[in-house]
Amino acid sequence: MESLAVTALLALISLTAALDNGLLKTPPMGWMAWERFRCDIDCKDDPENCISEDLFKRMAERLAEDGWKELGYEYVIIDDCWMSLLRDEQGRLQPEPSRFPGGIAQLARYIHDRGLKLGIYADMGTYTCMGFPGTTLEKIEIDAQTFASWGIDYLKFDGCYSNPVEQLLGYNMMSKALIATGRPIAYSCSWPVYVGGLPPNVNYTLLGDICHLWRNYYDIQDSWDSVQDIINWFSNNQDDLQPAAGPGRWNDPDMLIIGNFGLSVEQARSQMALWAIMAAPLIMSNDLRNLDNSARAILQNRVAIAINQDPMGIQGRRLLQEKSHIEVYWRPLSHSASTLVFLSRRTDMPYLYHTSLAKLNYEAGNYEAYDVFTGSTVTGLNANTEFTLSINPSGVVMWYIYPEQQSKDTETLYYHQHKTASQFTFHRAKPGHHTVL
Ligand code: GLA
Repeated sequence: MESLAVTALLALISLTAALDNGLLKTPPMGWMAWERFRCDIDCKDDPENCISEDLFKRMAERLAEDGWKELGYEYVIIDDCWMSLLRDEQGRLQPEPSRFPGGIAQLARYIHDRGLKLGIYADMGTYTCMGFPGTTLEKIEIDAQTFASWGIDYLKFDGCYSNPVEQLLGYNMMSKALIATGRPIAYSCSWPVYVGGLPPNVNYTLLGDICHLWRNYYDIQDSWDSVQDIINWFSNNQDDLQPAAGPGRWNDPDMLIIGNFGLSVEQARSQMALWAIMAAPLIMSNDLRNLDNSARAILQNRVAIAINQDPMGIQGRRLLQEKSHIEVYWRPLSHSASTLVFLSRRTDMPYLYHTSLAKLNYEAGNYEAYDVFTGSTVTGLNANTEFTLSINPSGVVMWYIYPEQQSKDTETLYYHQHKTASQFTFHRAKPGHHTVL
């Protein structure tokens, strides 16, 4: 056992920067089946919602046709329960034929034809978490090759049914095996969850060299309690987690559940705002065929997305926890901009919060702020200006803030997002006023 661990460590060291293959310079965006559709394999009684190629095709159509793709939501990710219980004669994983009659390669073509990318799920261990065939150490290479041959673009590698030594070795081996296929495949590792998520059990510097992103904490559920629990854990441990993130290496607090059953409109905005602060993957798990307008507007909010996707890739932090149960979060952004999120943990009524930018560590100077969810612009904001915000229970106020001088100097573009630059361009309409195109 000990020699296994040593080999694994040496292999880890030899891998440094090996995964810096240009993928996921900003957090991935897309859709994943798990939180909303779980392990529903009952296609007889629930044909519209069961884990099948039809479900992924329908979601891909929605992503491509309803404006998601243009905003950056590009990955369609299959989670657990897609497999047949048996590998084929060559030892390869295969999809359950009744639910994926066309096979995964054909599904990948369908997804690629719509300008999207396909992700898939496997598990480092004897079984997947739901009991389907796992990827033991000796199967890593063949599984990586199978995925590449199908045209897979993203692998979520879970960690049920394995021990820490196997995981240390296996997550590293899969990283190498994916690179060896020659196909660019984004690599999401669940490893940290299985070892407590924190140093010294997780060395985030090394982890960032083998995985593009990683799940640190427990699964999200469809409730505000679950979202709050995740926000608390990430913020309480931000000194360890925040420095680990950067282009090509992201903490993953799990899927966006906006559009499901558990969140109010306020809470849905709060999830979107906090996921932008945390530079988190924007991977929705909802039913894109049935979204109400408010969920759609929140998930398609261009400024929230641009903040999430800021090219510097610096994860934000919780600055303050007030006795009033207001919390303030901050994230620095490109072009001397930043974002502030004021989150209310209250359960009574809108709270009037008094502060100033100076109190939140801003340098002296004049600023403007764009309110991300109301679309209004606050001008003439000196660092010392005292202002009052009204924050709804379990809701947020989210500001995009930039130095006033900058808006005077720059006629049009001073902040854009690389994927679809024109959509995220802040345009100077008339002096002192900003519109977002
Ligand atoms: C684990 C993961 C989830 C999901 C399930 C599937 O719990 O953390 O995200 O993939 O397994 O069984």
